[in-house]
Amino acid sequence: MCGIIGYCGPRQAAPILLDGLKRLEYRGYDSAGISVGINHELTVIKQTGKIHDLRVHVPAEIAGTYGIGHTRWATHGGVTNTNAHPHVDNSGKIAIVHNGIIENYTAIKKKLEEKGVEFFTETDSEVIAHLIAQNYTGDLEKAMKDTLPVLEGTYGIVCMHADEPHKLVGARNGSPLVIGVANDEMFLASDVTAILAHTKQVVYLEDGHVVTITDDEFTIVDMSDRVVNKKIDEITWDLQEIEKGDFKHFMHKEIYEQPESVVRAFRGRIDREAATARLGGLNLNSRELLDIERIKIIAAGTSFHAGLVASYMIEQTARVPCSAELASEVRYRNPIVERNTLYFAVSQSGETADTLYAMRELQRKGARVLGICNVVGSTIPRESDGGVYIHSGPEIAVASTKAFTSQITALYLFCLVMARMRHMSFESGEWYIRNLTDIPDKIAEIFNTADKMQVIAKKYCSFTDFLFLGRGINYPVALEGALKLKEISYIHAEGYSAAEIKHGPIALINEETPSVFLVPDDRLREKVVSNMKEVKARRGPLIAIATEGDMEILDIADDVFFVPKVPELFYPFIMVVPLQLLAYFCAVELKRDVDQPRNLAKSVTVE
Ligand code: F6R
Repeated sequence: MCGIIGYCGPRQAAPILLDGLKRLEYRGYDSAGISVGINHELTVIKQTGKIHDLRVHVPAEIAGTYGIGHTRWATHGGVTNTNAHPHVDNSGKIAIVHNGIIENYTAIKKKLEEKGVEFFTETDSEVIAHLIAQNYTGDLEKAMKDTLPVLEGTYGIVCMHADEPHKLVGARNGSPLVIGVANDEMFLASDVTAILAHTKQVVYLEDGHVVTITDDEFTIVDMSDRVVNKKIDEITWDLQEIEKGDFKHFMHKEIYEQPESVVRAFRGRIDREAATARLGGLNLNSRELLDIERIKIIAAGTSFHAGLVASYMIEQTARVPCSAELASEVRYRNPIVERNTLYFAVSQSGETADTLYAMRELQRKGARVLGICNVVGSTIPRESDGGVYIHSGPEIAVASTKAFTSQITALYLFCLVMARMRHMSFESGEWYIRNLTDIPDKIAEIFNTADKMQVIAKKYCSFTDFLFLGRGINYPVALEGALKLKEISYIHAEGYSAAEIKHGPIALINEETPSVFLVPDDRLREKVVSNMKEVKARRGPLIAIATEGDMEILDIADDVFFVPKVPELFYPFIMVVPLQLLAYFCAVELKRDVDQPRNLAKSVTVE
């Protein structure tokens, strides 16, 4: 969703801000703007569209060595140049950028208007600029601190003042802000990708803290004016990880990164001598792990599908009841938190509002919630009671791919811990580890025939409705396949359990509705084959993802994509990759904006 960057230092700010905004592009936005300061004046430029559209409106001669920039994803007020950030106060001396939502902005606006303040935008954020102006007596940090108690809602804010050059003041409540520390220059950003080209030294700001940066130092204080000492963290990502390299799209690159990202999720966590996993971040001792009677996974979108996959594995292998639920539903149904239930909040970004708020509600009721997240320092891992980072590296494409397989890996490791503590033998533990650690090579094998999926995509991408069908542990993979296709190619797709089609969806089947069947050589193969025949009898085009060597499927399906053989419960890793490729190639064929599909944002920080 929205993105923030701020800069103080010796260099011209505008190119740095524009470059930072470009790096934030993946988060999804509809307009952008910058403000730079020099000679007690601010220059503000805002533009709807892409960063390129903003860039052409920024004059080459623009001067100013401190400034702020923002990418906006509209919530309050239409997508217009005026509504884009930065917003300025009536003097034109103060500019602010804001991520989040100010829930009480209408009341604040009314009061300010009564005092004669003139408003220019339809946004909630503009009130912040005017409030800071009202509180300003020559000290921007103090004005910010006096403003924050009035604001209800969520925010990451950065502001600047024309009369306090080379100073930015930031604050956060529920919306991330990170300080970038470099030699003789400082940054503020909502996401480390915005500043990675300049520094790997970062400090994550906490809710309730206010930061002031100048060219060469940063100071953090709490709302009682106590100085907060925070350690500087080192980002482990490299710049090349947030660049496309030889790939045309980030999504393509990230699909291909999966052999490596799955390794990163299990590296250092497997104890072969004990045939189990070691997950230090769980913060649970053996006694507590043994006391767990139930596991519940909460998540949204693709992360929810990963949770569903894991629920099959955990129940069948660890024999502990496990279910996955949409976080957005959990929150509002007054969830019952039972004793000895362990919760997982699964989220690539660690910022998804639905998952975060559901987690907080569960914690209020006494639940222990662990995070399975990718983005280090994001809100869910910080607020959870422990958890596991999946270490996928930055996922830039809006459509989640490598995070899915890494989330499953992390949950499968947890499953191994639980199973080995209960009934799983040493030998079975070894078998499980062998199969899990074989997965990266099996995924890599799939890429050898990726061109076949490109041919399939070309053949089918002009259809407007698809069904994705799988059973057992591959049912959630069917849901994921449908989600991938619809979000990046805009083709309507539904995911179902293959068994369910006879309960309704089969009415959709005709020559115009292709079905993608997941039909591995598992216990349910014969049942799925029967479901395929039901579709074939109704002249529905059939695409099958089947285990290599399964020649019978060639006779039934119109097109078959073969995948390597793995044990039944490991198929989701292998089944999902062809579906990611199918969605990708369809989107490319249809000339969609693969990495930034319409209306979507990478991290959904609103409910
Ligand atoms: C789908 C997709 C979304 C996210 C969902 C949750 O490709 O990216 O469905 O999976 O918004 O996001 P996280 O995992 O960041 O909580």
